[in-house]
Amino acid sequence: MPTLNWSSKTPPSSVPASLQTDSILFPQGKGYPHGKAENRLILGDNLNVMSALLEEYEGCINLIYADPPFFTNKRWKARVGRGEDSRRPEEWDTVEGYTDYWPNIETYLDMLFPRLALMHRLLHPEGTLYLHLDWHANHYARLLLDEIFGPDRLLNEIIWTYHGPSPIRSAFNRKHDTILSYTKSAEYTFNVDDVREPYNPNTVKTFQSSPKAGFGKVPDLERGKVPEDWWYFPVIARLHNERTGYPTQKPEALLERIILASSNPGDIVADFFCGSGTSVVMARKLGRRFIASDAQWRAIQATRNRLIQTPGIAISLEMESQARPPRGEADIRDLVTIQRDSAHPSISIAESLTEELDYWEIDPDWDGKIFHSAAQAARPLRKGKIASELNIPSLGGKIAIRFIKIDGEQSALYV
Ligand SMILES: C[S@@+](CC[C@H](N)C(=O)[O-])C[C@H]1O[C@@H](n2cnc3c(N)ncnc32)[C@H](O)[C@@H]1O
Repeated sequence: MPTLNWSSKTPPSSVPASLQTDSILFPQGKGYPHGKAENRLILGDNLNVMSALLEEYEGCINLIYADPPFFTNKRWKARVGRGEDSRRPEEWDTVEGYTDYWPNIETYLDMLFPRLALMHRLLHPEGTLYLHLDWHANHYARLLLDEIFGPDRLLNEIIWTYHGPSPIRSAFNRKHDTILSYTKSAEYTFNVDDVREPYNPNTVKTFQSSPKAGFGKVPDLERGKVPEDWWYFPVIARLHNERTGYPTQKPEALLERIILASSNPGDIVADFFCGSGTSVVMARKLGRRFIASDAQWRAIQATRNRLIQTPGIAISLEMESQARPPRGEADIRDLVTIQRDSAHPSISIAESLTEELDYWEIDPDWDGKIFHSAAQAARPLRKGKIASELNIPSLGGKIAIRFIKIDGEQSALYV
């Protein structure tokens, strides 16, 4: 079988790594989070994160969606703060999102190859990997996946098409991505009836007027058709209501189709390049468990903000050895009011602070080790302000409050 070779290629392997739990979160109003969380959100380089997960999850993950950097040689900016959703781009603040910059293709392949091999090890024997790329590197990736999974394990080469402006005048506009799906074995989950779509109205009309139109094959017009391997979904443009401001965010509808087709309720869906967390938000909505990781704190924070607005069970936030959120030094004690003894204990923050915050959360019984987040407020995705008051269960212990500013800095107050 032909394989792809490059000068620095080495056999893929795992690395020594460990994870630490930072916090456990129950979405607002669900009570105090006790015990282990079934959903995991992890900050860190995914080579280390996946290596650390092998012991518990080798052969266990039902579906992996991977949307890595595409080898675009760009530094992608994130748009943050108030006004991001406005029609006036001059009001946006931009900060570093993530870097997709490589000295050469060898360095890129050195990143991709061992990570795809780890995903293969983590997959359940009946699991599927969807790898999302575009013309920059999908041809290399296909050979890597043939080598890791076997060429006969290619399930689909999916083309996702979309519209959008483009400066290109010397070629056709490049308006599709390629998603390669590979299964770990010949036995795999594919829920065809969950992803059927209505037939084109012309097809329906033709068969209704002439049942013989299909040369003996009569489609089940009621049940709908199996989608082709080319999909149209609009991209997340500036005024799209799913938009978080995190760069290269993918549409929920795209992930919904992938998750419905290749996993079942209760299964584990993982995304180790999670960005703003589209896949895991959809996994949560569809009753799947999830594991998500990203090397950028901003991505983890964007994912958490979306997750707490989606009903579901507890989530743990973990960090790979050296990965930590940036620390802030804010002195905010005077801006916080605590109502501990009333019938409805609550904590409120000054209006001036709401302008600066992306997120804040409360542990009403701080044990000095793991933050048990019993109440959270996040900046709404589109319009409106972050909540300035949160109710807490009255546990009578030491209270810890954490604040994340729009620039990502985290600070804490203990009372
Ligand atoms: C294309 S974006 C993912 C976008 C995501 N699908 C969404 O809908 O928002 C790629 C992500 O991979 C992350 N990333 C790149 N290299 C990584 C690595 N070695 N470990 C973990 N995350 C990484 C980047 O920080 C970035 O957030």
